[in-house]
Amino acid sequence: MSKVNPLHDEMKKRYEDMMTSLQHDDTDPYALAFHVMPPTGWLNDPNGACQVDGVYHLYYQYSPYDALGGLKYWGHYTSTDLVHFKDEGLALLPDQPYDLHGVYSGSAFVEGEEIHYFYTGNVKHLGEHDYITSGREQNTVHAVSYDGGMTIEKKRVVMDSNAYPSFLSNHIRDPKVRKVDDQYFMVLGARDLKSQGLVVMYRSDNLTDWTYHGSFLGPLEGMGYMWECPDFFSLNDQEVLILSPQGLAEDGLQYQNVYQSGYYIGDVDWENVTFDPKSDFIELDRGFDFYAPQTFEDESGRRVMWAWMGLPDAEYQNPVDHGWQHAMTLPRVLTVENQNLIQRPHPNYQQLRQNEEQRVVNITEGAYEYFTGKVAELHCTFDTVTQLEISIRKDVSLSYDTTTQLLTLALGASGHGRGQRQIKLEKLSELQLFLDRSSLEVFVNDGAYVMTTRMYLEPTEDKVEVTGELQGIIYHWLLDK
Ligand code: FRU
Repeated sequence: MSKVNPLHDEMKKRYEDMMTSLQHDDTDPYALAFHVMPPTGWLNDPNGACQVDGVYHLYYQYSPYDALGGLKYWGHYTSTDLVHFKDEGLALLPDQPYDLHGVYSGSAFVEGEEIHYFYTGNVKHLGEHDYITSGREQNTVHAVSYDGGMTIEKKRVVMDSNAYPSFLSNHIRDPKVRKVDDQYFMVLGARDLKSQGLVVMYRSDNLTDWTYHGSFLGPLEGMGYMWECPDFFSLNDQEVLILSPQGLAEDGLQYQNVYQSGYYIGDVDWENVTFDPKSDFIELDRGFDFYAPQTFEDESGRRVMWAWMGLPDAEYQNPVDHGWQHAMTLPRVLTVENQNLIQRPHPNYQQLRQNEEQRVVNITEGAYEYFTGKVAELHCTFDTVTQLEISIRKDVSLSYDTTTQLLTLALGASGHGRGQRQIKLEKLSELQLFLDRSSLEVFVNDGAYVMTTRMYLEPTEDKVEVTGELQGIIYHWLLDK
């Protein structure tokens, strides 16, 4: 690459020069302790997630020069335990005519000693364009790593923007590949010319030549104008299709965010290669900050999912005065149980637990229990709950009431525009909270629901208080890397 592409070398050098002069900032109260965040600048979707020879790779949408976003590269982290990550710098750069307005999202497909990457090369032409029906190219690009994911080479367009069917708009992106028997299947998210979202399917025998096979799912009534980041896999003998649709109308307590991410469980008709949902579209996370999830199967056969702990075009904010914005969620282990996708925090995070406190609690009106610590895990198992409020550092509250059967996550000023989100729950039996310096993930009833949010609490506050009427056991740990 270096001999033929001076632009690539120049861009890489500019980045590395910036990184050598970047000062470590230990004054940032919101820098995350145990979540992946960008070294500097902006991060969005997880890309190319995989595990090869024991090493986990997490690539990500990265705009290193601007915390408010900009031209997209792929950044790269590696890890051997999924908890401690090493920054490996830039993995893919927008250095070719077919990706010069961004190396957009994509995935990794491991085959033998090789890792095959597929991503979207975004190009915007100058001129009077709406960039929906004209002016945009979204090329599907293939690249390969022969050294276990450390360098990615041989970038090559396998489908240019003229190759897509004519009923589609210019928005068609985020390839994800899966092999079934001897065939490779690629899903892409798309918007058609009637502004309806769908997932389209391509097939190949060799990862290089791809033929259009038709719609895999959609368009569907009421399901929005664009579907981003599709992911499809089989898990516990069920077929799962994950997608991030845009343009869904709010529906009671559901679809409260500007864009959604969720899943269908269904059947795949492998002859016609179509997906037949057996479930409704179910949101993966009921908090404020979750989008564009991507899963991979690890070397022990677990299905692991990361998501962007953020949202595009959200009306709420994140402070960016320390030069970075956004992070990844914790990696979550997925299973299908009783036709639902269950998400549990990856068990490797248990190695961060310190200072264990275990309390058998019997709280009645007027009484309370409290714990101290900003970077912590709180695990509550309830025998009975009539009422519960967990108040975090005075400004974030998680509450449940048996009369309304509502679990409510509410943020005050620390939400920077985030208000409240609710889930209707017949019974609350368990809560597991992961508190980082500026994020909270709440796993409800052993992974049946999750609520994720960023939060910007007063650094001087560090108490978590539990009040209400309840009986159960509460564990508390400080988490330390
Ligand atoms: C989702 C998304 C993808 C796109 C990428 C660009 O957040 O819009 O559809 O490939 O981000 O950064």
